[in-house]
Amino acid sequence: MKILVTGGAGYIGSHTIIDILENTEHDVVSIDNFSNSDAKTFDRIEEITGKRVKNYELDLTAYSSLKERFFNVEGPIDGIIHFAALKAVGESVEKPVLYYHNNLNGLINLLKCCQKYDVKHFIFSSSCTVYGNAKTQPVTELTPVQPPESPYGYTKLVGENILKDFSATKIGFNALSLRYFNPVGAHPSGKHGELPKGRPNNLVPIVTQFASGWLDELNIFGDDYETRDGTAIRDYIHVSDIANAHVLALEKLAESEHELDYDVYNLGTGDGVTVLEVIKAFEKSTGISVAYTISDRRAGDVECIYANNSKANRQLGWNPKYGIADAMISAWQWQQLLNTKRGDTVHSE
Ligand code: NAD
Ligand code: WQD
Repeated sequence: MKILVTGGAGYIGSHTIIDILENTEHDVVSIDNFSNSDAKTFDRIEEITGKRVKNYELDLTAYSSLKERFFNVEGPIDGIIHFAALKAVGESVEKPVLYYHNNLNGLINLLKCCQKYDVKHFIFSSSCTVYGNAKTQPVTELTPVQPPESPYGYTKLVGENILKDFSATKIGFNALSLRYFNPVGAHPSGKHGELPKGRPNNLVPIVTQFASGWLDELNIFGDDYETRDGTAIRDYIHVSDIANAHVLALEKLAESEHELDYDVYNLGTGDGVTVLEVIKAFEKSTGISVAYTISDRRAGDVECIYANNSKANRQLGWNPKYGIADAMISAWQWQQLLNTKRGDTVHSE
């Protein structure tokens, strides 16, 4: 198959490209406008896989250039894995129109192209954020979705609905929404990992950047939750396991072309881990002590969420291989590589 990966320069997209190149015969091409990434990602992908991926620096919200400068040039595309989106929850509260515009128009334009150019398979990056503050844990795909806490979350919920409705109308097209829990870690080689522009928003890059002296403080947002140590619980899933699920999901879509319109899968480990446990895992894996401070709860945070992943296990044959220690070791290796190249590799500080 020939696969378009949107957001191929980003954190999860780039790891997925690596998995596709290492484990399948598929051809891959990327679209990324580098709004939260850097062209150097493709050098690192080449270093790891020995293969060069072509990226089109296009904005998915511009329909005519998407048609004319990508689909009319590249020829038939069999499947799209759609990662490209803005993902900072807090920023989405401040700039809702930007988020709705970027994330929803990008998706809609791609689906218009699926219609026009007869693309058959589609995978959408969704999020556990669609479950909101679910009453029972772990959440299954049957756990009711809830009104999200942020405009970002709405773009995922609405995105899923758009895709479900579109899949029902287009014959010969099928789609999956993959609900990621908390992706963490870096490629096991330590040569490629997460590098968002500006200050990271997520816990693990904050921990590794703080341990490297790039950030001045590490706050734990709340130690008064009703959990075993008072800090919030999440399901931290290694990015390489998330990446591999996309390869399996593509196989599922290709095999069940006529029986499956649309479905959703949770991608988490099934284990709930507290913030303090993440920090302890980092300290144990690296031998570095982290002087955190406890601060107030962060607005919009849920107390506890983790996945029941048995549907992906049964139907995709997906089994996460890596644990939290692997994630910490690879994230730290990657951070150390960044430390040696600061000012060169680092695109924005
Ligand atoms: P990322 O920011 O690293 O990657 C997204 C990429 O998309 C970036 O390289 C960015 O430049 C590109 N992009 C954004 N808007 C674009 C546009 N209009 N046109 C072209 N390129 C565009 O993010 P990520 O962590 O790799 O996340 C990938 C997907 O997974 C996103 O849809 C995100 O919402 C979703 N997701 C992420 C997490 C997480 O914690 N990382 C969790 C759940 C879901
Ligand atoms: C994890 C835990 C924080 C930073 C977000 C999105 C979600 C999904 C995954 C995209 C929480 C705590 C964090 C810090 C801390 N993304 N924390 N100090 O909030 O679970 O989920 O990313 O879809 O939609 O909301 O991830 O990494 O920000 O936080 O104590 O400096 O770490 O409170 O409990 P989160 P996170």
